[in-house]
Amino acid sequence: MAKILRHTPVLLQTAIKYLNVKPNQLYIDATVGGGGHAELILQKGGRVLGIDCDPEAIEITQKRLAQACPDSPFFQKGEPNEQGRVPPKKQWQLIKGNFADLENIVKQAGVGQADGILFDLGTTAHQLISKRRGFSFRSNAPLDMRMDPDLNVTAADLIAALSENELYQIFTKFSQEQLARPIARAIVSARKIKPIKTCQELAAIIEKVYQKRGRIHPATKVFQALRIAVNDELNNLKKALPQALRLLKKGGMLVAISFHEGEDRIVKNFLKKNSQAGKLEIITKNIIRPDEEEIIINPRARSACLRAGQKI
Ligand SMILES: C[S@@+](CC[C@H](N)C(=O)[O-])C[C@H]1O[C@@H](n2cnc3c(N)ncnc32)[C@H](O)[C@@H]1O
Repeated sequence: MAKILRHTPVLLQTAIKYLNVKPNQLYIDATVGGGGHAELILQKGGRVLGIDCDPEAIEITQKRLAQACPDSPFFQKGEPNEQGRVPPKKQWQLIKGNFADLENIVKQAGVGQADGILFDLGTTAHQLISKRRGFSFRSNAPLDMRMDPDLNVTAADLIAALSENELYQIFTKFSQEQLARPIARAIVSARKIKPIKTCQELAAIIEKVYQKRGRIHPATKVFQALRIAVNDELNNLKKALPQALRLLKKGGMLVAISFHEGEDRIVKNFLKKNSQAGKLEIITKNIIRPDEEEIIINPRARSACLRAGQKI
């Protein structure tokens, strides 16, 4: 049987500690991904509503959780519904959706207020290593980068259609790429000769602009910026956080793991604003980062930072 690669969850124990997981309480994993955080919540006896906009993530996690928690050892009866029937309260359920629609998704799931909500932002290993999805500058896949295949615009569409200035704006705004201008210019001249369709074609154009290679691959930042633009990542997060706060019970925990400055700034400002408004207490006075050992085992963890707040 083919071995299925598992996404290594970042700050796993730390996130679960800040979520304050207790048996039978409800946790919303708004980015369920490969199911690592969700599985640990279940092992600690919590109930999980897992959400992901990527149907492949839902499929992988469905299998993982079905093995880890085939039927609820903490099975309980729910509240009577309108017909007077008492539906079972499930230990876990997964829904494909965008966390920008968090309140609607939670309504659809019929689970009510949550004791903790987790956002573990960014991509999974499954998305990065996929030969089809186009997230990695190392792959020869079409430049796609949609986490949700129902989205209309791919990275190739942006590369083909945006002006030099618009590309420059995306590369600077979303990933502070220092060579944004010459890279944008190189893309515009390359596409006049031949459309840029694959990850490797784009990576080769960026490598030529850089000439010298540093510690990280020269295409890293441009790929990150395109991914953020294709998936509208920052706007989705801005829409989701206020909904998450409304969905939490008093005392419930909001935990967010970010992987770049743009995301972290949104989380930080949200916590600060709502703490000043007396709606939550910031629990992480300083950002929490993975230790050296975790970064050695999982290099993807190097840019992670966690913040948490408790609803008042
Ligand atoms: C870093 S992974 C989560 C990994 C997960 N915590 C685990 O332990 O396996 C991030 C996931 O969030 C999903 N995602 C990103 N933006 C999303 C959004 N706006 N709505 C729903 N899911 C999103 C991605 O598809 C990806 O699967």
